Amino acid sequence: MANDVAAIVLAAGKGTRFRSDLAKVLHRAAGRSLIGHVLEAVRPLQFAQVIVVVGHQADEVRAEVEASGIPGLTTVVQSEQRGTGHAVQQAVPALAEGIDRVMVLAGDTPMITTSWLERLMADAKDVGGALLTAQLADPSGYGRVLRDRDGHVEGIVEHKDASPAQLMVREINAGMYLVDRGRLVGALAQLDDDNEQGEIYLTDVVRILTSDALPFAGTEAPAEVIAGVNDRIQLAEAAAILRRGHLQRLMAETGVGVLDPATTYVDVDVEVGRDTVLLPGTILERGTRVGQRSTIGPNSHLTNVEVGDDAVVHSTRGVDAVIGDAAEVGPFAHLRAGTRLGTATKVGAYVETKNTTLGERSKIPHLSYVGDATVGTGVNIACGVITVNYDGTTKSQTTIEDDAFIGCDTMLVAPVTIGARAYTAAGSTITDDVPADALGIARSHQTTKEGWVARRREGDHEG
Ligand code: UD1
Ligand code: CA
Repeated sequence: MANDVAAIVLAAGKGTRFRSDLAKVLHRAAGRSLIGHVLEAVRPLQFAQVIVVVGHQADEVRAEVEASGIPGLTTVVQSEQRGTGHAVQQAVPALAEGIDRVMVLAGDTPMITTSWLERLMADAKDVGGALLTAQLADPSGYGRVLRDRDGHVEGIVEHKDASPAQLMVREINAGMYLVDRGRLVGALAQLDDDNEQGEIYLTDVVRILTSDALPFAGTEAPAEVIAGVNDRIQLAEAAAILRRGHLQRLMAETGVGVLDPATTYVDVDVEVGRDTVLLPGTILERGTRVGQRSTIGPNSHLTNVEVGDDAVVHSTRGVDAVIGDAAEVGPFAHLRAGTRLGTATKVGAYVETKNTTLGERSKIPHLSYVGDATVGTGVNIACGVITVNYDGTTKSQTTIEDDAFIGCDTMLVAPVTIGARAYTAAGSTITDDVPADALGIARSHQTTKEGWVARRREGDHEG
């Protein structure tokens, strides 16, 4: 708990280099917005205040950051984006009494971790301030870190303002700083926009402060933690790094099997249990949770799906659904919203379900559509069954009670109820309820015409 520290997170920019109508910090990587990643790194530090500077699409960005629910989070508006220094100037009046140190972060550096922010705080003790840096093979676009002969940070020069010699510097500014409040406020008052971009640079604070007696610390961190996201190419790179990190944690810490991390896409908020195996082509998104010893994939795409233990989900699309323990799904199943599959159920090839509860041990093995249905336990729904749930205006319910048997190619014209242990005959269009233990049969009798083929050949088409 850091009672005397506040974070200021800059998120007002448009992100011109994205060529997007959506504010840059709202773009998502590995299932979370860029600003969301930064805030999740900040959250465990329990700062007294987290002030997010919003501007471009302020309402949307405010809604996103408030949804994080981080205690002490507020927003301030920078109505004109005149630079990072100007953005911090807007936040300073919102600092509460008792705040002695300020951490400044950018909203577009999604790979930053809590432990590197802790390191930044530790390194800022007993010096004028500290910032994080990284050595990049290609530093273009970033501010370069200038150090004196003793290795102390002297200042930062932006790419566009750098001399040819300065452009050779590969150590870049991460845009993450920790500064004593009083000294920050003093330096902010001295900023100007006398530079190539005509912006008020926060980076000039470093030069101003290092001309004081105290040195400024520059802590080098790995490039993969520090990199910023200014365009869609960097967004894709950041997303890949974030996903890889999450998969590595799942493998190393939880004991999840991942056959091919390069083709396995798991959002950072997805939980997967021990001894579950993720096969290639698997995409797990938005709050999906998978239990233990399950097999997901190949080629399963689950969005907000809860999967139990010992389940198999092969080549399946699922959204807002529940798959119970030991259930078997796919290949080629489509579980739409509101599907709830009980323990040891089976939903097989070319089956679509929607708003349907399937009780324990019930099966829909092939080629069926089951929507708006409540299915009991031990029910067998044979091949080609359709719940006729929509008449063009209203959706109607189908109820199938325990241990019923729905024959192949049955149309269940809803609303309709099939009682416990009842059967429907293959090819029936069932429009009336079938009571428990009964057989519902609704099809015309077959007529067989002996010798028909020969008569047809002779030109007797009368039959
Ligand atoms: C900035 C740094 C650069 C550093 C890089 C690290 C400055 C002048 N430069 O450059 O030294 O290497 O980050 O990634 O600080 N923002 C506002 N209001 C503004 C301008 C920007 O809130 O008026 C926000 C943006 O939304 C963004 C962050 O500040 O989240 C950084 O701005 P950006 O324009 O991306 O700065 P860089 O050019 O990347
Ligand atoms: Ca940036």
